[in-house]
Amino acid sequence: MEKPILQLSHITKVYPGVTALDDVSLEFYPGEVHAIVGENGAGKSTFIKSITGAIQPTKGEIIYRGTVLQNNNPAKSLDAGIVAIYQEFNHFPFLSVAENVFYGSYPKKGLLVDFKKMEKMTGDLMADLGVAIDPLAQLRELSVGYQQIVEIAKAISRNAKVLIMDEPSAPLTENEVEKLFAIVKKVKADGVAVIYISHRMEEIFSLSDRVSVFRDGKYIKTMNTADTNADELVKLMVNRTLGEQYPAKGYQRGEPVLEVRGLATPMLKDINFTAYRGEILGFAGLVGAGRTEVARAVFGADKISGGELFLHGKRIKINSPADAIRSGIGLIPEDRKRHGVLLGMSIMENITYANMQEISKWGVLNGSKDAQTGEEYKDILRIKTPSLKQLVKNLSGGNQQKVVLAKWLFTHCEVLIFDEPTRGIDVGAKQEIYFLMKQLVEDGKVIIMISSEMPELLGMADRIIVMREGKIAGTMMTREANQESVLKLSSGL
Ligand SMILES: Nc1ncnc2c1ncn2[C@@H]1O[C@H](COP(=O)(O)OP(=O)(O)OP(=O)(O)O)[C@@H](O)[C@H]1O
Ligand SMILES: [Mg+2]
Repeated sequence: MEKPILQLSHITKVYPGVTALDDVSLEFYPGEVHAIVGENGAGKSTFIKSITGAIQPTKGEIIYRGTVLQNNNPAKSLDAGIVAIYQEFNHFPFLSVAENVFYGSYPKKGLLVDFKKMEKMTGDLMADLGVAIDPLAQLRELSVGYQQIVEIAKAISRNAKVLIMDEPSAPLTENEVEKLFAIVKKVKADGVAVIYISHRMEEIFSLSDRVSVFRDGKYIKTMNTADTNADELVKLMVNRTLGEQYPAKGYQRGEPVLEVRGLATPMLKDINFTAYRGEILGFAGLVGAGRTEVARAVFGADKISGGELFLHGKRIKINSPADAIRSGIGLIPEDRKRHGVLLGMSIMENITYANMQEISKWGVLNGSKDAQTGEEYKDILRIKTPSLKQLVKNLSGGNQQKVVLAKWLFTHCEVLIFDEPTRGIDVGAKQEIYFLMKQLVEDGKVIIMISSEMPELLGMADRIIVMREGKIAGTMMTREANQESVLKLSSGL
């Protein structure tokens, strides 16, 4: 075998109350895709951040191209060819796509930034990646999926020797994932060592050459991907047996609860649908099809230019998210970092602040009830933390997601809209969330579920509305649908 390009030797990282990484040693080789898997909070991102110098390990050494990295930091490791796409985006929403791609290494003409050249180079890069993204668009105008592709373009433009991707596919839809795979394969063929973190099993198997499992901050095992299977990986990750992934279907359609008539926004045209009691109503579509826009419009987060909403047959007016919550409509947003969670507050505060009435009496917070609720949800969703007082920003990515879900489950809204509910969530917790959702509909709630993961949508939804280019392209009963028929309708083929 070739010499490893990167070696981590006995890396330990200790935070107050948590050993995030415990004596982990691992080697990476050029031209190889090495996947890292593990439950939320297993230490994957901490491992990555140790490599880039974003954090300093408590103990251990990192050897890159034969020499120990001293006083490592992100700028230095980037210079040396270690490029990371983090789970948390590190981009600039108010700069253009081109400025984001070339941030820190703008092409220059004399002393000035050569904007023309930068625009051209970005355009070429996007063409290479096979996506139509305007180099001059402001980043914040793009969907989360497209923003992620800009991140990838940025990494590729940096001549990486080691390319680290921490859940790059999480915000992407199926056909964008295909693009991502093509990119990873190309980079690998160029001799780059790729480190790939994902909670999606199919990706691990179609992309990686080797796979390493982490659990509770400990290194468990490395295997040739060809010599293992999903069952074995899951077992190593969770160290317990998981039953069926999806709850049994049993669709009892009740009366209509939410009716949407002729809904329109600058992005949406004439959206009509009804959500019934006891049903999980799925929304499928490609990125940009308008699924999130429907959710946001119903929730009062975006202004609508036309249309009416009815709840139990009565017309309601929703001009803001506060109106929606008052009417019993909740939205668990896809971009939770921006809309879902207060990073600087504790887990407990995050879980309970949307529904203070329930745990307070005459305006005074009942502290013990608060704690009890927090503990309950922490257990149900397996939020990994030493304490509910921990600030959410100190949690792993997946555990932050769980906090947002807990918060919304706790509001007891009658209609819950989940936008990509299991993005970034580990196998075990995914299953818990599916069963919780099923329980909610059995208790009489209505769930609208937007998902880009087709197996999840087919496994959970009773009915699926397929969107395309801001319109409803069709509706099908899930028992009559399959991956192909949904994809066909979403792409208009
Ligand atoms: N700044 C911090 N302060 C305290 N604890 C931290 C901090 N950063 C990470 N941790 C803890 O370290 C552990 C490992 O976190 P890490 O982010 O590496 O997990 P992960 O495997 O990437 O999980 P996920 O799949 O959810 O992204 C978690 O228990 C997390 O709460
Ligand atoms: Mg992580």
